[in-house]
Amino acid sequence: MLAAICLPVFALTMPNARAEPTVEVLHYWTSGGEAKAASALKKDFEGHGGKWIDSPVAGGGGSAAMTVLRSRVLSGDAPTAVQLKSPAILEWAEQGALANLDDVATKEHWNDILPKRLQTLMQYDGHYVAVPVNIHRTDMIWANPELLASVGAGDVPKSWDEFNTLAEKLQAKGVIPLALGGQPWQEVILFENVVLGIGGTEFYQKALIDLDEEALKSDTMKKVFDEMRILRGFVDADFSGRDWNLTTAMVMNGKAAMQIMGDWAKGEFLAAGKVPGKDFLCVSTPSKDGYLFNTDSFAMFEVSGDDKVAGQKLLAELIVGEKFQETFNLLKGSIPARLGVPMDKFDECALQSEKDMQASQGSDGFLPSVGVDMALPGALTGAIVDTVTSHFNSDMSSDDAVSKLLENIELARD
Ligand code: BGC
Repeated sequence: MLAAICLPVFALTMPNARAEPTVEVLHYWTSGGEAKAASALKKDFEGHGGKWIDSPVAGGGGSAAMTVLRSRVLSGDAPTAVQLKSPAILEWAEQGALANLDDVATKEHWNDILPKRLQTLMQYDGHYVAVPVNIHRTDMIWANPELLASVGAGDVPKSWDEFNTLAEKLQAKGVIPLALGGQPWQEVILFENVVLGIGGTEFYQKALIDLDEEALKSDTMKKVFDEMRILRGFVDADFSGRDWNLTTAMVMNGKAAMQIMGDWAKGEFLAAGKVPGKDFLCVSTPSKDGYLFNTDSFAMFEVSGDDKVAGQKLLAELIVGEKFQETFNLLKGSIPARLGVPMDKFDECALQSEKDMQASQGSDGFLPSVGVDMALPGALTGAIVDTVTSHFNSDMSSDDAVSKLLENIELARD
């Protein structure tokens, strides 16, 4: 009786001590591999006494999730934690929508355990507003070894010319050479790989990051569109609109030989019990020393309620935890964002990624992916995406594609 009377008083006077850390997490990890990785985060959070409200929005690449986010924020109902990329983090932070994570960052020594480059990406105006989960790369070919062997190719191609020759051989045998999901962001992943392979790292930086006019209208850019036209001839008739994971399944099931996709594709192979080096091959796309990176991160939105604030802090702390970084990235196909996580449980694809990532640091080859929104503010990414997809899905010439690219970028700048 006494307890029953006392409890509400206690609850009213000591809200902090009683707040159950709660997060509503808006994310787009809904494929087989992604869902496994997401549930590792949920499990870790719940294991530490938190309450997790799951808000998945299906749609690879996340544009559907971003639409939901905008409408939620507009209606004053921001989710507590959101899977967000660094340019979008800046855009939301500029609007004052994000919570400051400096106290967690200081307590957990983020300045010592995160790579400098990622520290910058997670900050706005010198303050932490997001927390990194991983490092993915988009410059990868996922190949079916049996299909390659069927045309006598032991190896994945080392240049785009070699790629074309191999693809022609596969096509002549009735095999679909290139598994592509015809959604704009997937087409841009293909495009950025061609930019890197044909132009090199300096050209990638100038054209796709600095948006330098000379680079954008150069002959090199025309060659990139020429190659995109050739690649269009290597995809199957049903590619339009196909999800990336169904596209990965085509390589897995022997329907197509190669997919060019971020290493979240590895998460799909692993979730299906496939073994790297045996059931599938992972090799970086033709380029000298480029590494097209993509870091998933969570931004915490400004919300009120002790339970929610406690939830945001707990989630941020756990995400950078060493054990979590290992567990999550083993499932997701990426490598840890945190420095010094033991790599002994990681497979050959991840070890190669780690090695290439290190090598790219010394050569300006560590470049953000445009296709998955790492490189530019939304409007400018949109200008590139629109051009690439209109060119790929029509008979537009390379000259016209280059003019359109300049025009769209100019419009997006206004
Ligand atoms: C995300 C990945 C995700 C992929 C496909 C990318 O934007 O960074 O984590 O697996 O989209 O949905």
